[in-house]
Amino acid sequence: MRDFNEFTATLAVLERNAKCRDERLRQIMTSVVTHLHAIVREVEPTFEEWAFAIDFLTRTGQICNDKRQEFILLSDTLGVSMLVDAINHRRNSAATESTVLGPFHVSGAPHLQMGDSISRDGMGEPLYTSGKVADESGTPIGGALLDVWQTSHDGFYDVQDSRQPAMNLRGRFTTGADGRYWFRSVKPSSYPIPSDGTVGSMLAALGRHPMRPAHVHFIITAPGYQPVTTHVFVEGDPYLESDAVFGVKESLIVPFVRRDDASWAGRIGLGNPFYTAEYDFVLARTAPPGEHLVSMTEEIEEG
Ligand code: BEZ
Ligand code: FE
Repeated sequence: MRDFNEFTATLAVLERNAKCRDERLRQIMTSVVTHLHAIVREVEPTFEEWAFAIDFLTRTGQICNDKRQEFILLSDTLGVSMLVDAINHRRNSAATESTVLGPFHVSGAPHLQMGDSISRDGMGEPLYTSGKVADESGTPIGGALLDVWQTSHDGFYDVQDSRQPAMNLRGRFTTGADGRYWFRSVKPSSYPIPSDGTVGSMLAALGRHPMRPAHVHFIITAPGYQPVTTHVFVEGDPYLESDAVFGVKESLIVPFVRRDDASWAGRIGLGNPFYTAEYDFVLARTAPPGEHLVSMTEEIEEG
């Protein structure tokens, strides 16, 4: 191949990659090259535009460190993270829907007792969150671990905000045999994703805001069940329709109800007035080893 031109370019690269022995890598790179060339043919970038694209990606990489991952933010804001999530959770099941992990999860949050508060500074409007973890038939799951994290009342995670104590608004809870969970915190607020980097500039250039609707994050794991990474969103939040990272699902939106009841507040150890939010999580069982072989055999037998 000597005459590499706009008509022969794609085939030339695909042929060069054809000897790759890793079949999956070859398949992925065939798609990457084909789609990348198609974009270039369609857009016909000038040299300046192509240099800008390279510089944008270079700067995106340069912002990344052990605390900041601008490429994940890019994937989130272009809807790629949620697309990957959707493709990997295509199952037809009643299990709680998943959504983005986001960059603010911290491993090793304190393990707390049910009813404890994850707020270490007490700032904000009190919130009581409760519900249960059950399987798809409604049977409670004991021993489920809920890893919970959320923003402060003014929209910052502890790791972004030197005013907050470490591990503020983070905690882990394990359900008892009844599958129930309950804990105290403060009402989260909507907040902007980090917008001082390349992704922020991209959103501004596209006329997009960086806001996420208020939510509480959960990762729920239990032996024998598929884990779920999800959020519970605050009903009525003005950004539910335009989440910067496309993470909202109708099934994850719940009312955060304002209560003015001093005796109830006293019983659960919160100031009055306070908010309550309730959400029941459903986990799907992990397929036992060999189950997919059984279902494949059944399909073959059924023709
Ligand atoms: C978050 O919810 O913490 C988050 C998710 C995606 C990007 C930025 C933040
Ligand atoms: Fe968040």
